[in-house]
Amino acid sequence: MTQEELFKSLIAHAKEYGFIFQSSEVYDGLSAVYDYGQLGVELKNNIKKYWWDAMVRLNENIVGIDSAIFMHPKIWEASGHVGAFNDPLIDNKDSKKRYRADVLLEDYIAKLEEKIEKEVEKGKKKFGETFDEAQFRATNPNVLRNRVKADEVTAKMNESLNSGDLEAVRQLIIDCEIACPVSGSRNWTEVRQFNLMFSTQMGSVSEDAGTIYLRPETAQGIFVNFLNVQKTGRMKIPFGIAQIGKAFRNEIVARQFIFRMREFEQMEMQFFVRPGEEISWFEKWKEARLKWHLALGLGESKYRFHNHEKLAHYANAAADIEFDFPFGFKELEGIHSRTDFDLSQHQKFSGKKMQYFDPETNENYVPYVVETSIGLDRTFLAIYSSSYCEEKLENGEDRVVLRLPAFLAPVKLAVLPLVKKDGLPEFARKIMDDLKYDVNCQYDEKDSIGKRYRRQDAIGTPFCITIDHQSLTDNTVTIRYRDSMEQERVPVDNLRKIIEEKVSMRKVLEQI
Ligand code: GAP
Repeated sequence: MTQEELFKSLIAHAKEYGFIFQSSEVYDGLSAVYDYGQLGVELKNNIKKYWWDAMVRLNENIVGIDSAIFMHPKIWEASGHVGAFNDPLIDNKDSKKRYRADVLLEDYIAKLEEKIEKEVEKGKKKFGETFDEAQFRATNPNVLRNRVKADEVTAKMNESLNSGDLEAVRQLIIDCEIACPVSGSRNWTEVRQFNLMFSTQMGSVSEDAGTIYLRPETAQGIFVNFLNVQKTGRMKIPFGIAQIGKAFRNEIVARQFIFRMREFEQMEMQFFVRPGEEISWFEKWKEARLKWHLALGLGESKYRFHNHEKLAHYANAAADIEFDFPFGFKELEGIHSRTDFDLSQHQKFSGKKMQYFDPETNENYVPYVVETSIGLDRTFLAIYSSSYCEEKLENGEDRVVLRLPAFLAPVKLAVLPLVKKDGLPEFARKIMDDLKYDVNCQYDEKDSIGKRYRRQDAIGTPFCITIDHQSLTDNTVTIRYRDSMEQERVPVDNLRKIIEEKVSMRKVLEQI
């Protein structure tokens, strides 16, 4: 199965089992907007808790807030979002379809990279053990031609985007002979900047009406509350403020399922530090955040850092943690050293001081900020996609299993009476009624035990306990493990301890 087919299957699976639905599906859907179903919301809440506990509970100098989505419109002028939160767009005159000009070029570059990798694979097959990959990449004419082209287009694209030369961006699309995927034509309009913020009106009387924006990031809610939190919480620098919440962006290229959405959730933390100490904190947070990811156990090879060469005007260091999604390595989290840009801008636009008096140095200053910003939906997709598995069993049967980290699984334990009679359901219910206070349990007595195991495998339930006739006589049950499918007989009295230990978030948090 190709990665593309696997991705399609997991999207279908997410819908079939109540993880993720297309928003407004009965009205044919709303593009790039999704609803989380009964299991999706549980997994999402567990991810949030993992992040919140790691950031807020485990760090005495980090506190959380929950700021409003609507904020004073001047905030977005100060932050630069009104003026510069834009995507370069281009329309195809024949299909009337709109594209992000930079994405058309990135896709073109990605195709060249794919050609290079295919050529290398061919070489590997042809030369077997004697294959010298470095030499092949340095000498093979097809590889070299595509390498030069990819580098040239990347350099020209970056140069024209960074200098805001939209005509040069258009020319590059034409020079690369990029055609519209729908009409197949190269009949392009000029490239225009398009602001990504959604706006609406506030106020019930038209004269009072003012344009306000749905926040495109949660971070600004933290910046404008910096002094409130610092003063009321008696926080001393260095300290952090964390927040989980919705953000909205009118993404034009909305695809790859929940990777790029118009309404999504961010988990952001702004860490306020002394000027001059930001780079060492930036390095510390890079390391800490990677550890958080690795403790999920999805595999070290799934992650890599991408250090930004070209920095935004307000940053003096920036890196992404990229994840190996089914469509390749893409940004999952950003760690940015944002200098004093945001607080200084709010000081300027609001006329209110955004300074901190440092009792250790006897100085007033605008703190510098190191930000960690991770998409909750992207984290969901990272975990979901690397847990999704289609397996052929030894007995020839197929099974779909979601190998979710046990502590994040929506349902931790399924309670299954072997048959629907002889007092087994009552016995099972008693166990469920006790354990439901500790972990999320699901009771199921319908269909054969095999079918019930498959259903639980498909939703990622790490443990099923089966109650049989022996249970009534010796007060034991079998635990069946999702990943190994092994079964073990255990006393009912030990169940809580066994399960709690296996699904403990504490153990994972202790690793970070
Ligand atoms: N405050 C900094 C900030 O918002 P960003 O790189 O624009 O930085 C941070 O966004 C994270 O939010 C990204 O790494 C990504 O995980 C997530 N994100 C951004 N746009 C998204 C979208 N349209 N859909 C889903 N997640 C998105």
